[in-house]
Amino acid sequence: MKPSLGSRPTVVLLVGFMGAGKTSVGRALGQLLNWKFEDLDDRIEAREGRSIEEIFRESGEAEFRRAESAALNELLTEQNSGSRIVALGGGAFVQARNALLIQAAGACTVFLDAPAEELYRRCEQQGRERPLCRDPEQFRKLLDERRPSYLQATLRVDTRTKEVNAVAAEVACSLGLG
Ligand code: S3P
Repeated sequence: MKPSLGSRPTVVLLVGFMGAGKTSVGRALGQLLNWKFEDLDDRIEAREGRSIEEIFRESGEAEFRRAESAALNELLTEQNSGSRIVALGGGAFVQARNALLIQAAGACTVFLDAPAEELYRRCEQQGRERPLCRDPEQFRKLLDERRPSYLQATLRVDTRTKEVNAVAAEVACSLGLG
């Protein structure tokens, strides 16, 4: 069941594939609303004392997913943390146990959508090491597998060819926070 937009959310989770702009839009949205911004991947790295790339290389994806769920659970159950925007890693919302944690917390989710070619191009431009961004074919296949899960988000925003600030303003407006 999707959380409704009926009441004012205090946690907004940005979901979507690698290159969707979850971190840059999240930062812009945080500034716009004067809400705290956090990237879940940063919390995972701080908790584990290793980079995402090191966790994948040294311990494998299953261990990364365990660390990701633990970090998400910690974040969602923190008390008195105020209003927050959180960027999730591309695979977080796809894991059933995480979707349940999110539902239980009543958090609002926003799917930042874009076509595979644009997402791949953005990842290449960023030049950041991403363990699951290998070649265009594998990238598209993984996106196709995950898309039905992303569509379960409370809201979908098309980010194609849009500037970061414009996407942030659209998210704020759609959530009734603008
Ligand atoms: C992942 C995406 C990454 C990071 C990890 C796994 C994924 O985050 O969490 O490499 O499974 O799609 P970004 O979506 O911020 O690149």
